[in-house]
Amino acid sequence: MTRTSQARRGRFITLEGIEGSGKSTLARALAPWLRAEGLIVHATREPGGTPLAESIRALVLSRGEEPVPPAAELLLMFAARAVHVENLIRPALARGEWVLCDRFTDASLAYQGGGRGLDAAQIRSLSAVAHPGLAPDLTLLLDLTPAQGLARARGRGEGGDRFEDEALAFFERVRRRYLDLARAEPGRFAVLDASVSPDLVQQQAAEALRALLGAAPA
Ligand code: TMP
Repeated sequence: MTRTSQARRGRFITLEGIEGSGKSTLARALAPWLRAEGLIVHATREPGGTPLAESIRALVLSRGEEPVPPAAELLLMFAARAVHVENLIRPALARGEWVLCDRFTDASLAYQGGGRGLDAAQIRSLSAVAHPGLAPDLTLLLDLTPAQGLARARGRGEGGDRFEDEALAFFERVRRRYLDLARAEPGRFAVLDASVSPDLVQQQAAEALRALLGAAPA
């Protein structure tokens, strides 16, 4: 039987990982794979995903003259998230559609919490303001060393963003926090070895997704 959007509740899948972990490549492969299962899939990203949230993305990621204090960075991430959740994610899920999102609140916990040293409990209270009652059904964490990730990201020659200017130690803290989050919620997270080829990463992701597809209520 084909899966129709009317027959099923939408699922919310997030992709997380440091720079160069291959999230975007994986999202490009997974969206058509899920669509081939008969699902309506929105491939989106954070910060961003709607016109207003993309404007906030441009503000928070660009290198400007004026420093962006960590608290402002955190609040801008959540401002973009609140827009994205209300204007795209919740309506799509309510229609029974699936949302595949490149980063979500775990990124704030890892980057602003682990990376910048902001308080995790305060970050969690912002998540309760920005998206009460909404959490990913599945989070794919693409794990690799920051040395590998940054070499890949910088090798793209795209000039990068404000975060790519950070030192290796920053990304070590981000990676460690991501792994702590995964250990704390093993039922939601699947940790993938992102040091291997894109094909092998896709295989690991497909395996994690199959369980979710099987579990989706008719
Ligand atoms: P991207 O390069 O994966 O599109 O992500 C943009 C940058 O934004 C990346 O360096 C991680 C950072 N970021 C945060 O610091 N906190 C957040 O909550 C999100 C969503 C992204």
